[in-house]
Amino acid sequence: VLIDVSVFNCGAGLIAQEGRDLWNSNFVKMPCSQAMNHSGPSQAARWKLISKQLSALASKKSVKVDHVVAAIIKFNPKYKDRWSFDALHTFVEHVPKTENYFHTLFPKIAALALKLPDQIKKAIPLLQRGRPASITLSQVQISCLLANAFFCTFPHRNTSRPDAEYHNYPSINFSSLFGNWSERKKEKLRAIMHYFNVVTNENTNLEGLVTFERRCLRDSDAPSWRSSSEKLQKLYVTSDGSIETEGTGLLQVDFASSRIGGGVLGSGLLQEEILFLINPELIVSRLFTEKLADDECVIITGSQQFSCYSGFGDSFEWAGPHEDGLERDEWARLKRQILAIDALHFKNSREQYNMRKITRELNKAYCGFMGEKGHKEPDIATGNWGCGAFNGDPQLKAVIQLMAAAKSSRGLAFFTFRNEQLERSLQQMYHLLVTERVTVGKLYALLEDYCDVLHKPAGSHVDLYEFIRKNITGVRSQ
Ligand code: APR
Repeated sequence: VLIDVSVFNCGAGLIAQEGRDLWNSNFVKMPCSQAMNHSGPSQAARWKLISKQLSALASKKSVKVDHVVAAIIKFNPKYKDRWSFDALHTFVEHVPKTENYFHTLFPKIAALALKLPDQIKKAIPLLQRGRPASITLSQVQISCLLANAFFCTFPHRNTSRPDAEYHNYPSINFSSLFGNWSERKKEKLRAIMHYFNVVTNENTNLEGLVTFERRCLRDSDAPSWRSSSEKLQKLYVTSDGSIETEGTGLLQVDFASSRIGGGVLGSGLLQEEILFLINPELIVSRLFTEKLADDECVIITGSQQFSCYSGFGDSFEWAGPHEDGLERDEWARLKRQILAIDALHFKNSREQYNMRKITRELNKAYCGFMGEKGHKEPDIATGNWGCGAFNGDPQLKAVIQLMAAAKSSRGLAFFTFRNEQLERSLQQMYHLLVTERVTVGKLYALLEDYCDVLHKPAGSHVDLYEFIRKNITGVRSQ
């Protein structure tokens, strides 16, 4: 079953709108909109221009990068001297001949982008700050939206001015992916092009749906951590494998940026960007998801993994196609659930030992981990959330996630990502906490004491687990 765009009310959420062409601040401004614009040419005229350019490309068997660039600039003339396409040019010259199918792929992506008015018949609401709501799109609709992002047809989002309409949104057009050549860009483009090669292949059956849900933790749902009496749930720790390879069937944590997808369309290549490159359908969330607030998260259900990879950061390599063998649920969504939560970014690592910051992280994790009341939810696959680019302390973040999981009655599968020392210390700490029947509230009190000690004037750094070990019996409150 293919449906257009569904919006589900969740509490104070959005109200579904039937209109297909809503040009206002609650909906995605679509390239194919026929709405009248107050300044400049009407949107209808712009789509006419886009259609003309894309139709010309789509009618050819083979298209050179120069022609792709010329088309993009025709309908984005303002960016003629600002956007660079050197990465796209160099990429096509550099990839091995056996993999160089791009000239014949460009016309197919153009044909897919042209289907936008047929594919999206209702306005797509924005998932705005403070409003829990979800959007379900078919995989075909997503491919069409991403083909438009590839050709940079979305009305430009001015994100640099703080008062600009889309200031709080991620970018969506792929222009930033096409400039500033680097080895990283090469590998990113290999993954993205592979996605388009699969979805434009006539033998591909893209039959599923994907749901993007914004969740907000209401004040009334925010736990009183200090008085929480829950015991820890089960924990599995390993230094082998990774969240996405071993976490099948679990809720898989995306170590996110508050602007979902982070640097996926730029040069970022850490956990989140890699996740978005191997599951490119996730990228479409950038079209409609406003920057996450402290008490918000996004859960994406049903995205397909198209690629395998190896490495991380500079060593990342696209490692070929991935056949996604997951089952589908009753909504025809692949049984993959990804939870995007953004940790705090600590410029100075000492900042994190502060109960206000710790409570923010607890609430952020809990917002994602808490399930629906009365449902048995799967366990959570996570790891060093916030402990790479965001400079968090892995020991502290592991305790925070254990507490949030306990409060949500869910177990944790914790992937230390080859950190054997953390694997050992976390296993030992967990064993101690369980043996001593430590509750979430007691752990909270231990963290309070720990922060106090660290902030004593002459205080030197004390290892968190060492501190817990020494103070576990003498803690001041339950
Ligand atoms: N599975 C398990 N653990 C992983 C994986 C994986 N696939 N990839 C990385 N890790 C571990 C590594 O130890 C890494 O150093 O998680 C750590 C943190 O990863 P980061 O991606 O650096 O996460 P974070 O510190 O939260 O930074 C988030 O980086 O990717 C951007 O958009 C993202 O802006 C955001 C920021």
